Amino acid sequence: MLDTAPNRPDLPPEIARRRTFAIISHPDAGKTTLTEKFLLFGGAIQMAGQVRAKGEARRTRSDFMQMEKDRGISVSASAMSFDFKEFRFNLVDTPGHSDFSEDTYRTLTAVDAAVMVIDGAKGVESQTQKLFEVCRLRDLPILTFCNKMDRESRDVFDIIDEIQENLAIDVTPASWPIGMGRDFIGCYDMLNDRLELMDRADRNKVADSIEIGGLSDPKLDEHLPAAAVAKLREEVEMARELLPTLDPQAVLEGHMTPIWFGSAINSFGVKELMGGIATYGPQPQPQSAEPRQIAPEEGKVTGFVFKVQANMDPKHRDRVAFLRMASGHFKRGMKLTHVRSKKAMTVSSPVLFLASDRELAEEAWAGDIIGIPNHGQLRIGDTLTEGEALRVTGIPSFAPELLQTARAGDPLKSKHLEKALMQFAEEGAAKVFKPAFGSGFIVGVVGALQFEVLASRIELEYGLPVRFEPSQFTSARWAQGSQAAIDAFTKANQAHIAHDNDGDIVYLTRMQWDIDRVQRDYPDIRLTATKEMM
Ligand code: G4P
Repeated sequence: MLDTAPNRPDLPPEIARRRTFAIISHPDAGKTTLTEKFLLFGGAIQMAGQVRAKGEARRTRSDFMQMEKDRGISVSASAMSFDFKEFRFNLVDTPGHSDFSEDTYRTLTAVDAAVMVIDGAKGVESQTQKLFEVCRLRDLPILTFCNKMDRESRDVFDIIDEIQENLAIDVTPASWPIGMGRDFIGCYDMLNDRLELMDRADRNKVADSIEIGGLSDPKLDEHLPAAAVAKLREEVEMARELLPTLDPQAVLEGHMTPIWFGSAINSFGVKELMGGIATYGPQPQPQSAEPRQIAPEEGKVTGFVFKVQANMDPKHRDRVAFLRMASGHFKRGMKLTHVRSKKAMTVSSPVLFLASDRELAEEAWAGDIIGIPNHGQLRIGDTLTEGEALRVTGIPSFAPELLQTARAGDPLKSKHLEKALMQFAEEGAAKVFKPAFGSGFIVGVVGALQFEVLASRIELEYGLPVRFEPSQFTSARWAQGSQAAIDAFTKANQAHIAHDNDGDIVYLTRMQWDIDRVQRDYPDIRLTATKEMM
């Protein structure tokens, strides 16, 4: 547990104004649309529609391939910075497809909060639930947006009940919808006592906002049909009786989520949500690390890599490492220590992702995400500091659930294939194991679609046809123990042993029985399904 209160008055203003968050949702709930509107109101893009064209993770295979082709562009959507009032928002994209859960998990280690988008007609769906559980592991504050209120949706009390029950979190309404579907008129802003009315004629127009003096204000009757006013008064009264009131501290601790209702496509409710992120969302948080935690206001710069993207430009084999700044004030050209290799590294061309453009980052503060182009030195989980040997903790690597053997279409090209696979392994797109015996590579992924994406990328980016074939193994576990124990274990189990791309020992098998046997016969060996990246 981190030992500091979530929001502190003593942070330097540049850090205190930063909000770094991700959006979690089930496919189709409206994440892309909401992102567009964030950027639109953040002044980052002139027109909505630009993000969609840029390959948000889509559901179908063909879309995926297109996304991979459009890599340079889809990558710039991995982290987006924009301003809202006096705040700087850093939105980190989570891959939409469930096949990329590991990548998603790591993304969530780089943010301080999550916005949960749900579809008002569907409520909490499976992918939302999964992602929520991940946020819960880190007690991430969550702000909820209930989208598509312009369509027939469920009863508001039902939606709130479902979130409370399925996700075991207190829900407090920040706004209350007036009507739904065709009759959706707008919302009553419960936090600011305002009436927000939706403009159906112009989807990019922000709602009219009308100050009112409480629900008994006769202004309500001027603007709303009588039946809607009566229903609103009754429902809000009930909500105030039955539901908890907003407790900012409980929100910051992840025990309570405020919910806003709206329609992203109609730009409705989005500004209120943004205001909520600014007011109730957390400032940059301390980061757990060894041997000590890192506080954002520390004068010295530290940061960690949570994502690596290779081959953004196929002409140059460059990679971009996405660094979450954990502390300090970074300036371009700074010399930082790469803690794993203990080498100095001058960061001369860091990039900041401003929606559709990459820009050189002249400076960055704790909370920001910058991209560092490099030739492979930077890996997921790496820490950069101004010299201190700190290592950020809590960025896991999961055992893959599906294993296949990769073979080069042309046997003479297997060295090339090895290089390509290693790059993807370092990018975190797959696990690559080299068996101690025999030839070929065993590639492990979390979701089946990833094999196809990999094959297509290897062909596109390296010009290498590749085949994935069923492997004799179905599970992989990392083996840990003293050198002597590892030596004895690997010697006796050669046919099951492989090395991952870091050179660590992996035990491959097809049967849980084998794993149980190892744990019985080798009490000094620990087989684990996750490995902390370092
Ligand atoms: P995702 O990234 O979470 O997968 O969702 P996305 O924003 O792509 O939205 C999924 C679909 O829902 C899109 O329709 C989008 O237009 C629609 N949508 C988003 N917000 C709202 C809303 O507030 N109200 C209504 N009625 N629809 C909304 P689509 O048909 O899949 O795509 P498109 O043809 O509109 O581009």
